Amino acid sequence: MNNKYLFINTIGCQMNVYDSEQIAKVLKPLRYRETSFPEMANLIIVNTCTIREKAEQKVFSFLGRLAGLKRKRPDLIIGVGGCVAQQEGGKILERAPHVDLVFGTNAIGRLPVIIERIETKKCRIVDVEMSEQIEELDFGADESHDGKVASFVTVMQGCDNYCTYCVVPYVRGRETSRDPERIVNEIRCLVESGVREVTLLGQNVNSYGKKEGLCTFPELLALINEIDGLLRIRFTTSHPKDLSEDLMLAFKDLDKLCNHIHLPVQSGSNNILKRMNRKYTRELYLEKVDKLLNICPDIAITSDIIVGFPGETRDDFEETLDLIKKMEYDSLFAFKYSDRPNATAARFPDKISELEKKERLQQVLDLQDHFTTRKNKEQEGSTQLILVEGFSKKQSVIDIQNRYQDVQWTGRTSTNKIVNFIQGDDTVFCNEIATGQMLNVEIVKAFPHSLWGKPVGVEPTSLGLRGEESYVA
Ligand code: SAH
Ligand code: SF4
Ligand code: F3S
Repeated sequence: MNNKYLFINTIGCQMNVYDSEQIAKVLKPLRYRETSFPEMANLIIVNTCTIREKAEQKVFSFLGRLAGLKRKRPDLIIGVGGCVAQQEGGKILERAPHVDLVFGTNAIGRLPVIIERIETKKCRIVDVEMSEQIEELDFGADESHDGKVASFVTVMQGCDNYCTYCVVPYVRGRETSRDPERIVNEIRCLVESGVREVTLLGQNVNSYGKKEGLCTFPELLALINEIDGLLRIRFTTSHPKDLSEDLMLAFKDLDKLCNHIHLPVQSGSNNILKRMNRKYTRELYLEKVDKLLNICPDIAITSDIIVGFPGETRDDFEETLDLIKKMEYDSLFAFKYSDRPNATAARFPDKISELEKKERLQQVLDLQDHFTTRKNKEQEGSTQLILVEGFSKKQSVIDIQNRYQDVQWTGRTSTNKIVNFIQGDDTVFCNEIATGQMLNVEIVKAFPHSLWGKPVGVEPTSLGLRGEESYVA
């Protein structure tokens, strides 16, 4: 029987990236294979995000573009999953009459049955049922893996923190941790399929296992550190209020744990932090960072900032700028506050104007650019150990076949900085580089958002010896 084609558009956070991979895996037994061309697809799934107003707008604008495709091919099945689906449920079917299916963040395991029913009965389905139980999907090692070196693994779902601006607890449900054994087994299978780096995902990994009485997060990290063949571990996100000394020590003690922590502060003003329900003060945040830097002086720290939270005065905002100056973050994600359905802050008075938010955002971005550029510049001349992840985005396969010498590789340092490099120049060419390999590179030049490097310690071979096998992972 012929394969059918599945196109997934993933909008939103890394959890959605992980979920989209799960969706592709559960639909394999129904003979769906992934395609990157929506025009070819028999089934299109939009995995959605509602964290900010803009993310939600993106979803509906993409759905709008699919109406024409559906008109041309009425057999095409269109499904909307993820956080907007969870939030809006059946309303999406009213707003977008060409959509066949709306499924929530807990429904991935039920997708095969749902899709089969739509295929045979040509009906429309909404499944946004939530459950506190994690539905485990066991796939085993994937033989048809796509040479991917880095992978996400969700270790806990949901969130119990109820920060007042945030929609996540309403669309992802209560915080629930996965069994450590299942996580370790999943990573073992990924390693068997060629993965060398995992990023563990949770909204607040520091409270991993607490509710269920499982092991602690640092203990989970220690278990994962033992997995043969795995080279690197990352995780996100660690809530500052729960950053424990044990986790700080894990950075020092576990050889595979990368030297980077994402520690979102959101605001530098105690008044705003309180109204955000973040449960830490700027003093406590800085104290914890100090302790962490004492344990791991070289650790890269990144953060998220929200500007224009309701009631944020000019003085509050100045405190945020001041904290950014004190922290000198390696990089920063900054967002304009937007009201979200159900989130408490949507009902707060003293909303900040769009213009003011825009100006404050620009100020944060300009300030951070200065630190990012400086930090990247400091890398010039140093040698960094990177994990080679493959060809850089700029290089297409056709380019690779036509212009060998221009092949551009990409990898990341332990501190999560992107390093691009070429395999050789006009006179020498290194035959030994492969995806998934740890490689020393000398940083030759710093750019605002990446570094340019030169491989060191690999044997250069003469031009004539360039062989196709050099590109095989
Ligand atoms: N669990 C993580 C955050 C996940 S959401 C944590 O606690 O840090 C990712 C980021 O989106 C948040 O850190 C915040 O900076 C931003 N964000 C969330 N809700 C927002 C809103 N209503 N408006 C603007 N930014 C928001
Ligand atoms: Fe949202 Fe706060 Fe939970 Fe993060 S910790 S997901 S910001 S409620
Ligand atoms: Fe967006 Fe849902 Fe992630 S709202 S940020 S996709 S948890």
